[in-house]
Amino acid sequence: MNRIMKVGSALIEKIDSYKTDGLDREYPLDFEKIHMASSGTLGRILALKRGVEPEMAIISCILHDYGRIVTGYQKDHARNAYEPVKEFLKELGEFSKEEIEIVATAAKNHSSKDVVGTPIEEIVKDADVFDCWQYDVPMTRPEQKVRLERVLKELV
Ligand SMILES: [Fe+2]
Repeated sequence: MNRIMKVGSALIEKIDSYKTDGLDREYPLDFEKIHMASSGTLGRILALKRGVEPEMAIISCILHDYGRIVTGYQKDHARNAYEPVKEFLKELGEFSKEEIEIVATAAKNHSSKDVVGTPIEEIVKDADVFDCWQYDVPMTRPEQKVRLERVLKELV
């Protein structure tokens, strides 16, 4: 089992463990599962297109909304992902400190859709808007629309 699969499996297990937490979630846990998996696939496509090493890009896409999974809320979910993502990856015991930092930072920065980040951060942001678009998740901020237009042109 490769590390992408290990992260995905561990995340599904984690999501299932929140099923009985009684939180009034803004995004259903089933959506979180679908969104993490298809964001990961989009991450691979974007990484291959852009000449970025895919593994860290895919894992960053898979974990980008971990802050919302843990807290149940959209507000500040990017910032709220940073420490929990580090903890999650540390527990898996498969990643170096540097790798953990890359993934946690990509999650922390992914809501800043108007900022151009590292190639991996850009892949996470672009995969996120594309994936939200395909499930009709409302995107009202202008910078989300700009990004979506750009990534649609690139991929479609
Ligand atoms: Fe997302």
